Amino acid sequence: MVKIGILGVGTVGTSVVKILEENADIIEARAGKKIVVKSGVVKNLNKDRGVSIKISDNPLDVVDDPEIDIVVELMGGVEEPYALVKKALENGKAVVTANKALLAYHRYELQAIAGDIPLMYEASTAGGIPIIGALRNGLSANHIESIQGIMNGTCNYMLTKMINEGAQYDEILQEAQDLGYAEADPTFDVGGFDASHKLLILASIAYGIDAKPEDILIEGIENITQTDVDFAKEFGYEIKSLGIAKKVGDGVELRVHATMIPVDSMIAKVDGVMNAVTVIGDRVGETMYYGPGAGGDATASAVIADIVDIVRGNQGPMLGYKKGLESGLKLLPKEDIVTQYYLRLDVADESGVLAAITSTLGEYGISIEAMLQKPTEDEKRAKLLFTTHRCKESEMQEAMSALAKLDVVNGDIAMMRIEK
Ligand code: HSE
Repeated sequence: MVKIGILGVGTVGTSVVKILEENADIIEARAGKKIVVKSGVVKNLNKDRGVSIKISDNPLDVVDDPEIDIVVELMGGVEEPYALVKKALENGKAVVTANKALLAYHRYELQAIAGDIPLMYEASTAGGIPIIGALRNGLSANHIESIQGIMNGTCNYMLTKMINEGAQYDEILQEAQDLGYAEADPTFDVGGFDASHKLLILASIAYGIDAKPEDILIEGIENITQTDVDFAKEFGYEIKSLGIAKKVGDGVELRVHATMIPVDSMIAKVDGVMNAVTVIGDRVGETMYYGPGAGGDATASAVIADIVDIVRGNQGPMLGYKKGLESGLKLLPKEDIVTQYYLRLDVADESGVLAAITSTLGEYGISIEAMLQKPTEDEKRAKLLFTTHRCKESEMQEAMSALAKLDVVNGDIAMMRIEK
């Protein structure tokens, strides 16, 4: 018999307990041993969890319990779970975690501490989708050319509603919170931080890149308006918040941002709270993984898959490689990213304005691909919407600063990147 202790018996922890009980036969058949939850740890002992395991409010009751074989960490946060996971590993216990923030900051230290002790984290990225397993195992023959995905269900739910139903940003954010998709602090979702943690985890497995969230380009969906949505529709794009990891020469681009993508691409069809990740390998070509990225049972499904793997003895190195992977690959500085851009400017509707704007873009070597002018309620002003050909992020940032200084440009300039 294998005994489990759970740190954090919330929505996912409760699902883990229930699935291990309700699907016990099939899980035992697959693992080869009976798996039982011995105890759990919570912060608030007064809240009913609806499960009949022994509950304590002291994490050491799990981490230091000699009878517990596998510690499942579902607490959230960074430094407290880091200390506890470290102690559990030092006590010789295998660990399963769903904690993306913990891994975004400490995955390399944890890999070193774990050594040959299993430390698994399928549930940390895209919930129920087995994307970690796909990258660690299924695609191990490949150099990974790119990973591109919808890694935050809240953003995808909100954008889907804005595009398909013209819904207002604030109302649907509230709706996503009421439905339980959003993090406790939803700025974590809409600001792109949640997706950035997941992207960093995937980039470690694919490229061995050791970066922190602070090192990469992260932008949210807060500034998208119906004008952008209408433009995207008119020009054959869908708007998605994407996590992108891409090998470019001997560098790797890592970025999270709202993106215009062709409406007929596979990922453009992924709607609502669902997640999807496409991976291009040099030998397999394009593969795509789709499914629920959040929710108690879906996330618990991934947690239990890791437990079963550990019980079977299927452990490999934590990040999927035993020695230096893709040596020489470096994180590409944000300024060196090259892509196409969409710009929205509020301008004075008078002669010479368009010329001033296009010549400013020209000064920075930026070439326009398409353009649209829309009237505003104020007949003296207009909205100018552009897409550009490919240029460097640094050139675009400098051009935007120069444009913002023109007298005829009003307020902030909105920008979105385009991926084709
Ligand atoms: N808040 C996350 C999302 C949940 O919306 O996808 C899983 O990380």
